[in-house]
Amino acid sequence: MPEEIGATLENLQNPIETHWGDLRITSGEWYEHGENYPSLYISVAWSGWGKVSAARAATRLLGTYFKEKSIDIILFTGVAGAANSTLKQWDIVIPTELVQHDMDARPLFPRYVIPALNQERISAINKWIEWASYAIKDSISKKKCKHFGKVETGLIATGDRFVAEKSLIDNLSRELPGLCAVEMEGAAVAQVAYQERVPWLIVRVISDGADNCAAQNFNDFLRDYEKYSWNLIETLLKRYKTAPWEEKTTK
Ligand code: ADE
Repeated sequence: MPEEIGATLENLQNPIETHWGDLRITSGEWYEHGENYPSLYISVAWSGWGKVSAARAATRLLGTYFKEKSIDIILFTGVAGAANSTLKQWDIVIPTELVQHDMDARPLFPRYVIPALNQERISAINKWIEWASYAIKDSISKKKCKHFGKVETGLIATGDRFVAEKSLIDNLSRELPGLCAVEMEGAAVAQVAYQERVPWLIVRVISDGADNCAAQNFNDFLRDYEKYSWNLIETLLKRYKTAPWEEKTTK
């Protein structure tokens, strides 16, 4: 979200911008507190809403080189609507699997199957989920990640629809057992990263209950979320030394 981008950019040193039409990618150096050399090189973009915009931003990011370095991992953060009543605003969902709930190529493919992958669900990368869950839970328990609630992992459904109807979210939950949350970009980013063979991680914060009050709750939530979203991103950045980085194969 633009709300997150602003705070993130303020924390990057020596930023440079690349423009692809209306998409702006800002690359910069992130210094761990007190260090005098960059700890991480980061490229940031606000994707915009929906699967097409998310896939486009992911693709451009994956093609970005900064200081002659290519992307090691794509991290996508943003908000989501809860699909069950145990999840409340500020709770965090890290998807273990994603499905595109509006994908329907029947009768050529079964419902939800993504033709390019010939599978319904995209499985996330376990070692990154474990690393991120631990980092965030630890940070919350030490009161360093104020406002955020509990951390859950599970299925997220992505589609080009803002879900704001109780009957709709109930239907999706029935059809997709184990569904935790809905949003509009995750499975698109995951598909691009998966097909490009680049590690990826998605972290979502619950903004609403995807019910008839969703629009109002979403708008109210975003006003506060922009003040704290950087804390969540920084929590992960600060743990970079323990992250499960992979040796790069040649591209
Ligand atoms: N992102 C945040 N809340 C959402 C909702 N209710 N539906 C789809 N995407 C969302």
